[in-house]
Amino acid sequence: MAIKVIETAAPVGAEIRGVDLSDPLGDNLFRAVEDAFNAHGVIFFRNQSITPDGLLAFTKRFGALQFNVFGEDHGLEDHPGVVVISNIEEDGRDIGVKRAGQHWHSDMCYAANPPRGTILCAREIPRQDGLTLGDTCFAATNAAYDDLPKAMKDRLAGRRAEFDFAGRKRAQVITQDQRERFPPVTHPIVRTHPHTGRKCLYVMRDDCTGIEGIEEDEGRRLIEALADHIIRPEYIYRHQWQEGDVLIWDNCTVQHLAIQDYDLPHRRLMHRTTFAAEAPPA
Ligand code: SIN
Repeated sequence: MAIKVIETAAPVGAEIRGVDLSDPLGDNLFRAVEDAFNAHGVIFFRNQSITPDGLLAFTKRFGALQFNVFGEDHGLEDHPGVVVISNIEEDGRDIGVKRAGQHWHSDMCYAANPPRGTILCAREIPRQDGLTLGDTCFAATNAAYDDLPKAMKDRLAGRRAEFDFAGRKRAQVITQDQRERFPPVTHPIVRTHPHTGRKCLYVMRDDCTGIEGIEEDEGRRLIEALADHIIRPEYIYRHQWQEGDVLIWDNCTVQHLAIQDYDLPHRRLMHRTTFAAEAPPA
């Protein structure tokens, strides 16, 4: 059966119909799903019933499992590659990573080889008075690049942004071990998507610490201007979750932000896996 790809109104995002992820996908079907993933940057499947084993197997079709530092202590007990994202507490302890993704970011941009993509499965979604809470927003970095004036494109060509895990503007405390495992890195500000060839902006306000070859204040102003440009409303797809959703995003094509508009007793429980890219960003 052919899959149906229903695009959102935003420059990224598409719902995929006609796929049951509770069974392994045949090669042709998987290729069609992967093509849709590359083309749309964010794809999602509704009403899925996928086990942790099934999720891990599906993830590995896209690339080797990669471990996000902030999920290392919150893997499922029998499936450490599946990270729990949740505000739920049991016996006075958080069962998962709380308040994950509350800044616009691309996963693990502080790593020399950031992951190709991330999968999120919705297990419990908070609701209040009939309203669904805890949406996730995705900004199209390719459309944002396309719309830049030519003079800015010329200015950015060949430039690299600096990412220093220890120096970024985040609330999380970084351990000495994490500092050593993730020394400062640079990435091209304009990344070429390895599968589509499209150019994507790779700059984040809270994660970039400078631009190589540009004086500090000027670099900071440029980072902020570009970061604000990427998250203009016209580039954003906002996903309203339903239990049973499986959603995959491409960490080159989009940046994302988790809306933190809920708290206990409204419970949110997600399972996340991350898969590696073959090579560092070009
Ligand atoms: C994340 O940034 O990995 C979390 C996204 C979400 O929980 O919506």
